Amino acid sequence: MCGIIGYIGSGDAQRVIISGLKRMEYRGYDSSGIALLTDKGLEVRKKAGKLANLEAELESSPVGASTHGIGHTRWATHGGPTDMNAHPHLGSTGRVALVHNGIIENYASLRAELADAGVVFASQTDSEIVAHLVETKILAGSTLLQAMRTTVGRLQGAFTLVAIDTDEPGTVVAARRSSPLVVGVGKGENFLASDVASFIEYTREAIELGQDQIVEMTADSITVTNFDGTQAEVRPYHIDWDLSAAEKGGYDWFMRKEIFEQPRAVADTLRGRINDNRELILDEIRIDAATLRSIDKIIIVACGTAYHAGLIGKYAIEHWTRIPVEVEIASEFRYRDPIISPTTLVVTISQSGETADTLMAIRHAREQHAKVISICNTNGSTIPRESDAVIYTHAGPEIGVASTKGFTTQLIACYLLGLYLAQVRGTKFGDEVLALIEELEALPAKMDEVLDDLSVTLSLAKEMTEERSFLFLGRHVGYPVALEGALKLKEISYLHAEGFPAGELKHGPIALVDQDLPIFIVVPPQGRDQLHDKVLSNIEEVRARGARTIVLAEKGDHEAEQYASTLISLPVVPTLFQPVLAILPLQAFSCELATLRGCDVDQPRNLAKSVTVE
Ligand code: F6R
Repeated sequence: MCGIIGYIGSGDAQRVIISGLKRMEYRGYDSSGIALLTDKGLEVRKKAGKLANLEAELESSPVGASTHGIGHTRWATHGGPTDMNAHPHLGSTGRVALVHNGIIENYASLRAELADAGVVFASQTDSEIVAHLVETKILAGSTLLQAMRTTVGRLQGAFTLVAIDTDEPGTVVAARRSSPLVVGVGKGENFLASDVASFIEYTREAIELGQDQIVEMTADSITVTNFDGTQAEVRPYHIDWDLSAAEKGGYDWFMRKEIFEQPRAVADTLRGRINDNRELILDEIRIDAATLRSIDKIIIVACGTAYHAGLIGKYAIEHWTRIPVEVEIASEFRYRDPIISPTTLVVTISQSGETADTLMAIRHAREQHAKVISICNTNGSTIPRESDAVIYTHAGPEIGVASTKGFTTQLIACYLLGLYLAQVRGTKFGDEVLALIEELEALPAKMDEVLDDLSVTLSLAKEMTEERSFLFLGRHVGYPVALEGALKLKEISYLHAEGFPAGELKHGPIALVDQDLPIFIVVPPQGRDQLHDKVLSNIEEVRARGARTIVLAEKGDHEAEQYASTLISLPVVPTLFQPVLAILPLQAFSCELATLRGCDVDQPRNLAKSVTVE
């Protein structure tokens, strides 16, 4: 949700910033802008619409050579997506340029105060007031660093700010509270950005910034202090993936590339988690065994796709550990005054590690003395930093706005956590845990099998370009798969799609069914005989009303075949693991249908990948 970047060094700042913004465009793409210090002073270009518009503007109105600047790609909160509301914003004399990610909650009172002092605003944004506050301090004699420190003391809300001052041409200053910011450490050049993908082309050495920290950066130095001016502890780290991971590699969309990366992502997430004695090890769980044994309730908290992963996790964790598990949408969590105690384990799931709703849920849970384990894909992001322990999913960077490999690796992490708890608490014998781990290890090859033959799914998409509405049905773990299948279709194709528990259909939604409605149904493996048969009866109900049924069932399920207008076959796996396979054709279907409908699959309208506002 907004991507920001700052650069100083000896390279071409415009090139560095624009290429960085391209890799962060998934964070917001309704407008973008750049401010560069050139021989002519501060030169600013900003444009509504996608980054391509800014590039066109820079071509028609070029700026001078520069080695120092900032850039921004926006997802609008305050003020519509116009040229004027695009960042960077300037102070009144044009000395300070500033970009912002987040929301300044007390912006109205600060704006009124500045207006009383005679400031005229060029935009409707909350961000512009920060540029004025910083510049006012500089004009009163502060350095850029001092001005930033005083200003952040006046701000409420979540923010990452990056600023430059024409009179300090060798310095970039940034501040961070509750929004992402990382430093890229180069040789004779340094970078600041919301996401390491933006500078991975130049360096793989990074520094994680903590909450309430300020960075002063020159081409050769990086100084990090806390908001109160004290020296901050910094955590350097090496980024273990390279530029190719952040590029499309021949695919038309990042989403399609990421769909096909899933077998590897799942294998990487499992790697290193089984020791030579074939026991499950989760080194990152820095919560001792006695505490884990005392847990009497688990609450899984997440948003969107990650929430769907949590719903599936519940079935597995409850089944293996017999601990009651609740699953909660993060934005609802703290407002219902949830019952949490020191023996509650809160498990949060977040691909980005920056989702504000999830972060606030963590803070609430920890205030109530619950232990928090986060499942996360982004090293060094805020959510794992604020949790007691983390299980990293090793999916690599997920750039397509619609989550795919994020989801399947989150499922793996939920399974690992459930099995680990079962091992520690003794609710499963070692050989039972091992047998399940072996099933998990077999998943990547079975995922490849599904992805190697998507012919039925892809031709289905071709047949369905004119459809306007879809249903997705499932029971047990098939139900969250139905929810996730519907979400994928909604977010990238803008089509009406709903997921339902198959047994619930007859309590209302069946009224929607007619011969025009395509319905995807996830059929559980035949081993779950009762469940399997119940789902077949539900298919019968919709077929009786003329619906077109697209049935996802395991290979050899000849009974299910008879209920299918179109059959999508899945390799045989235990019921709890079926979602990892069943979601693949649904992701591929959405991606293909959206492509055929001419939608922008990687940057769907109104969405941003990392949602850093509540
Ligand atoms: C949907 C999607 C979103 C995210 C949700 C949580 O495809 O990507 O629903 O799953 O915004 O994001 P994270 O996992 O980053 O917390």
